Amino acid sequence: MKYYLEKGGEVEVILTFKETTRVERFNDLFGFLKEQEIFKGDSGEVYSHISHNGDSVVFLGLGEEEKLTYETLRRGFFALGGELQKKKIKSIGLKVAKFGDRCYGKTNKAIWEGLLQSQYDYDKFKSDKKPKVLLDEVYLDIVEGEAEKVRSVIGETQIVMEGVFLTRDLVNEPAMNMYPEVLAREAVDRLTPLGVDVKVLGRKEIEDLKMEAFLSVARGSSKEPKFIVMTYKGNPDSQEKLALVGKGLTYDSGGYSLKSAAGMATMHSDMAGSASVIGAMYSIAANRLKKNLVAIVAACENMVSGDAYKTGDIIGSMSGKTIEVENTDAEGRLTLADALWYAATVEKADKIVDLATLTGACVVALGNINTGAIANNDSLMDAVKTAAKIAGEPVWQLPNNEEYKDLFKSHFADLKNTGGRGAGAITAGMFLQEFVNDTPWVHLDIAGTAFLDKAAGYLPKGASGVPVKTLFYLVKDIEQ
Ligand code: BES
Ligand code: MN
Ligand code: ZN
Repeated sequence: MKYYLEKGGEVEVILTFKETTRVERFNDLFGFLKEQEIFKGDSGEVYSHISHNGDSVVFLGLGEEEKLTYETLRRGFFALGGELQKKKIKSIGLKVAKFGDRCYGKTNKAIWEGLLQSQYDYDKFKSDKKPKVLLDEVYLDIVEGEAEKVRSVIGETQIVMEGVFLTRDLVNEPAMNMYPEVLAREAVDRLTPLGVDVKVLGRKEIEDLKMEAFLSVARGSSKEPKFIVMTYKGNPDSQEKLALVGKGLTYDSGGYSLKSAAGMATMHSDMAGSASVIGAMYSIAANRLKKNLVAIVAACENMVSGDAYKTGDIIGSMSGKTIEVENTDAEGRLTLADALWYAATVEKADKIVDLATLTGACVVALGNINTGAIANNDSLMDAVKTAAKIAGEPVWQLPNNEEYKDLFKSHFADLKNTGGRGAGAITAGMFLQEFVNDTPWVHLDIAGTAFLDKAAGYLPKGASGVPVKTLFYLVKDIEQ
């Protein structure tokens, strides 16, 4: 999708509010549509009038002007993008006014994001791919003096959305194709051209690091586990670095604590945390953010076999802590225990954010609207919340009172990997907290938000790419 900061385009798009009574061009038609209540200007409402002689126009409603948000714009332009595709319109012209005291940069960002969101489709396995006519040219008639800002905002958004789409593609890919080695190769192929150093460790090196918890989960699979470390040094003048740690279960059958058929059906998405850190790393490095970052993924499959780990096993971990395996389906926290310990002690990260499709309990608590969060540090948590707001990806913080820790104490080992029926998302997060060694840390449970059973707004069915945008804005604004 190309853009030009000038008037032009084959079809004019006119933005209207509910209270709009007249428009510059096409006012006759507009008045008629309003009067007949064919078009009201509701948020996300689109009306296209296509004519053979060049006088085509599309009206996009944005609801009440007072209530306009960046999310309204994203949704509106997503709807517009869909309509343009249907009507085979490849070139539009659009006047972008400044809406009240809203930031002009963020307004343009939301518009561009909405349009791009409408172009994602995971159809690689469809034999009868519908020929798609995608919007190709956007002529923007912008407020004077804002050209530079608009250019930079669109450039940034373009790359952020490439990162989001990369994450979606990785997550949507079936587990038969997307196993640890492939995930690692994708990280290498997509990130090294951007100046990211990608190190991939195999079983032998993982053994040398004594990552017993990670290796225990991997044992039941014939696929070799991979430990992937991606380093980006955007600010060589600073010693500070943030670690992003992503859960990388390329498939989660549950192991001997086998999932039900329904529970297992979409478990190729259990690597969404790792795909998010790869997508975020892509967006950050391609945008050349002046920040230091390390992304870490312990990738493996949780399977059953004669050699798989079993309930009752008491396993070690890189940290030295021993863990009683009460349920082999609580595997994510075991792989993350070693990945987080590595981030805290080998990488010596100053801050850690982990992303994981960790618990069904989080889905029960928050559904697929909010990502659940647990933190040991208020200022990092606040930074994540701020970034999430900018991104339009809601995050809800859960409590982590000391008292919950009793729930995952083990009689025979230091910890056990389950915390009972209550507070499942909290105890899982607090289990992870045991492995960050006092490093400021935020855990994001994306079990409900990373993969959707039906489309929601501009998020498609399947992989949503949440929370790549949050990670991008977090890193962009973080102090280093
Ligand atoms: N990957 C699952 C969590 C999950 C559930 C993600 C639904 C996405 C959608 C995780 O490994 C898991 O199985 N967790 C268990 C933990 C329990 C055994 C303590 C769960 O939530 O049931
Ligand atoms: Mn599991
Ligand atoms: Zn899992």
